[in-house]
Amino acid sequence: QLAYVNGRILPLADASLHVEDRGTQFADAVYEVCAVMNGRILDWGPHLVRLRRNLAELGIIWSMADGPFGLQARRLIAANGHKDCLLYIQISRGVARRDHAFPDAAPASVVMTVRRFDFGQRVRQLGSGIKVITRPDNRWGRVDIKTTGLLGNVLAKQAAREAGAFEAWLLAGETVREGSSTNAWIVKDGRIITHPTGTSILPGIARDSLIRLATAAQMVVEERPFTLAEARDADEAFLTSTTAPILPVVAVDEHRIGKEGFRGKPGPVTARLAELVWAEVA
Ligand code: PDD
Repeated sequence: QLAYVNGRILPLADASLHVEDRGTQFADAVYEVCAVMNGRILDWGPHLVRLRRNLAELGIIWSMADGPFGLQARRLIAANGHKDCLLYIQISRGVARRDHAFPDAAPASVVMTVRRFDFGQRVRQLGSGIKVITRPDNRWGRVDIKTTGLLGNVLAKQAAREAGAFEAWLLAGETVREGSSTNAWIVKDGRIITHPTGTSILPGIARDSLIRLATAAQMVVEERPFTLAEARDADEAFLTSTTAPILPVVAVDEHRIGKEGFRGKPGPVTARLAELVWAEVA
């Protein structure tokens, strides 16, 4: 297995960052996770746009142009030889003596890793769906910026794992914002509902794709906050992310959701959306 560190491709075991990298000391870093299927990076353009927006939000200066960076990412994927994998990209503000304020002149640190990934498991999970639990959203106030400061997400995901659930939905009061690493959706009376973008959710790329596909298929999408009570009472629910393009949610906190005949089972709108999503990526 090979990794990329600041322009070099080397064995993962030898790949490292300096101990005073600001990514380690302050989570002063942004990241992206991209799906690679059949050797092709999906939605590379949108991932790059989001990455650059996040860097700009934090004032991290990174001079590499899109063309050369894309070549380096593809070179790493080819060197690893996986057809289906996840590409992880992390860019930090660089290495400097520890001081909260920005260093004067530290070049950004760029690392990329590739991990083989079985997308087929996500297709198999469409049949049974998954469970989610809920947790208070105790993350910082700018979770729209995809930083490596993920402790709130990590603790919520671990709680889900320990509860035998796939994901934790994060609550602000009664409002469901998103999952620890996925966006959250419900379906009610044929309308597809998800929290609006802004500063309190991560604007997911799978979320964008789903809105585009659903709208093109004449389905109604509402970007508005929804409550836990609405989720429990929903006809269907699902989640989206790069690593789970669409997964039906069949229980929220052990409360099985769905209409008569579909209670605790994936519903028809989610199934239709899954067809659209997988027709596009496959
Ligand atoms: N997570 N919300 C959060 C908090 C996320 O961390 C992610 C992505 C998403 C979905 O975004 P996208 O559709 O662009 O993957 C929503 C990545 C996969 C991760 O941290 O591993």
